[in-house]
Amino acid sequence: MEAVICTKYGSPDVLRLETVTRPIPKPNEVLIKIHATSVTASDCIIRGFKLSRWSPMGFMMGLMIGFTKPRNPILGMVLAGDIEAVGENVQRFKPGDSVYGSTFKPNQIRFGAYAEYIALAENGFIAPKPSNVSYEVAAAIPYGVNIALHFLRQGGIQRGQQVLIYGASGAIGTAAVQLASRHFGAQVTGVCSTRNLDLVKSLGANHVIDYTDENFRDHLERYDFVLDAVGKSKSSKLKEQAHGALKPNGKYISIDDGRPGEKLENLVLLKELVEAGHFNPVIDRCYPLQQMAEAHRYVETGHKKGNVVITIP
Ligand SMILES: NC(=O)c1ccc[n+]([C@@H]2O[C@H](COP(=O)([O-])OP(=O)(O)OC[C@H]3O[C@@H](n4cnc5c(N)ncnc54)[C@H](OP(=O)(O)O)[C@@H]3O)[C@@H](O)[C@H]2O)c1
Repeated sequence: MEAVICTKYGSPDVLRLETVTRPIPKPNEVLIKIHATSVTASDCIIRGFKLSRWSPMGFMMGLMIGFTKPRNPILGMVLAGDIEAVGENVQRFKPGDSVYGSTFKPNQIRFGAYAEYIALAENGFIAPKPSNVSYEVAAAIPYGVNIALHFLRQGGIQRGQQVLIYGASGAIGTAAVQLASRHFGAQVTGVCSTRNLDLVKSLGANHVIDYTDENFRDHLERYDFVLDAVGKSKSSKLKEQAHGALKPNGKYISIDDGRPGEKLENLVLLKELVEAGHFNPVIDRCYPLQQMAEAHRYVETGHKKGNVVITIP
């Protein structure tokens, strides 16, 4: 099968398309023909190992994925595809089922989605794919949604509360805006740059604020919950002010505060929301598997809108 291989950490040029052995599913595993995966901001951090090996996060990451080179040379953590074959003990799936999800195992980071096929445990983070969307759309769901749902739940937001999503145009931000407004019923203010204002409004934000606007203070209100969806490495004057724009019992959470575990029930919930038309993942660009390095270069700019998807016919 064809797969994109990363045998050392570095720039996008370390990614190479190669022919490798197709995996054989164990008795409790399913073999999935992957039709689409996505390139996330996290994929770029991993490919470049952009964390100090001596920071707590960097040390943890090194232990999990390898200090000097990726232990599994095939990166990629989300997928949508079809079950090609099943091991003899598998009960949840049968050949021909369309699925979507993540390569992770409980409490374990695991990759391998930049390939035509992958073998995954049937009790991993895979679930039936929403029936009304393409594989490309399905592959754009698991990453942003899983992280956004985790932090929105931590915020404990209630229907009608005022919520500000800082960084509303990325993979996590576009998921957070839609979930906060349409699923949790909050009054959402989305913060993004000028070119993304219409996009964020279209996702259900009641108000939008441009973080490049000098007069942003005029637009800030008081919030029950502020979610920083771009992380601690990106900032602006508006983000600094957002800390002070909380109601007395308001909460501020950064997306970099903790690592959410994958939850199978999130995939099941999202299937329902997508099929009911209440959630539409945002796709910025699609690239074929052969152009993985280009896709990484684009994601690494830090200015994508929503998700970047890789198609694998
Ligand atoms: N806790 C975890 O386990 C976990 C996991 C994954 C990621 N993260 C964190 O989440 C962050 C976001 O991930 P993502 O995949 O959503 O990123 P992403 O899709 O790459 O985000 C890109 C978006 O960020 C916006 N942006 C860039 N600089 C900004 C700034 N200074 N202020 C406001 N918006 C800005 C860009 O909008 P413009 O082009 O309009 O500027 C762009 O639309 C990551 O960088 C990482 O720190 C945490």
